[in-house]
Amino acid sequence: MKKKIKCVIRFLISAFILGGCTGKQNVQESSQLYDETVRGDGYIVVGFSQVGSESDWRIGNTESFRSIFTEENGYYLLFEDGQQKQENQLKSIRNFILQEVDYIILDPIVETGWDAVLQEAKDAGIPVILADRSVKVEDEDLYTCWVGSNFHEEGRRAGEWLLDYLEEQGRSEETINIVTLQGTIDSSAQIGRTEGFKSILDTQANWNMMEYQSADFTQAKGKEVMSYFLEKYDDIDVLVSENDNMTFGAVEAIREAGRTCGPDGEIIILSFDSVRAAMEAMLQGEIHVDFECNPILGPKVEEIIRRLEKGEAVEKIQYVEEQYFDTSMDLEKIMETRTY
Ligand code: AHR
Repeated sequence: MKKKIKCVIRFLISAFILGGCTGKQNVQESSQLYDETVRGDGYIVVGFSQVGSESDWRIGNTESFRSIFTEENGYYLLFEDGQQKQENQLKSIRNFILQEVDYIILDPIVETGWDAVLQEAKDAGIPVILADRSVKVEDEDLYTCWVGSNFHEEGRRAGEWLLDYLEEQGRSEETINIVTLQGTIDSSAQIGRTEGFKSILDTQANWNMMEYQSADFTQAKGKEVMSYFLEKYDDIDVLVSENDNMTFGAVEAIREAGRTCGPDGEIIILSFDSVRAAMEAMLQGEIHVDFECNPILGPKVEEIIRRLEKGEAVEKIQYVEEQYFDTSMDLEKIMETRTY
């Protein structure tokens, strides 16, 4: 009975926090509260603060956590969708702390602005595992470890690929006009991919980066920003699109503008993620190349938690393996073995 009362008190406090001081109750997914009896049943309670559901990649990523952090595997998962807003993620982390979860998994939408809340988690003795994107904090001890992609390397590889491709096409000396659809500004994926590509761009005097614009990793904005690029510039040679969903939007915009892309078209498209629909778009000759970003992070994080439970040390930075795919490869065969 005591436990139930404690639970009700927690609910009221949480509803107050989530609704702000106005009393307005913003009780969305983040209002999830677990019944304390699960602790008695020996479950490990994990709070996962996800960025949102802005892309195919993100949906696959969420699924990889949901399918491993199950009751059968001994977990009670509190899942919170931040709807691409840092303020939502901050609220959900505070909610997790209040509920005394055993672990917090955070996929931070942007890199900055986390010091205070991570300090609160540390003070409460709750380990925080970062997945996918990372944070820039004064004190690296505010989180236990990070697991995800080497975004800088993805961007650098994209630049290297373009260099080789242009050489193959005999276009090494030509002026190459480039536009970039960036992801959410200040997110690790945007920073790494932009900077990685720039590390090659800066070595090529004939590559002209006409404009960078963020389309927030979404298809709708990808289409909107690409339409704007196409209206402004009639001589785009290359589109660097920092995720597949923005690419899908951009391809629609290119088609609607009566322009063409892909190996038989005018605009060379470099994309990131390599989700299934993008592999299909490559097969249809719309995208030239796609740099993989592996969304299957759930099992890696679960393994980390198992090790922490046993009191074992874990590596602070853990990269996942990735590759790239282009239209010169046997994509149909490759797709047979891919799980996302
Ligand atoms: O942080 C990973 C990036 O975020 C993926 O490239 C993108 O699709 C997602 O929205």
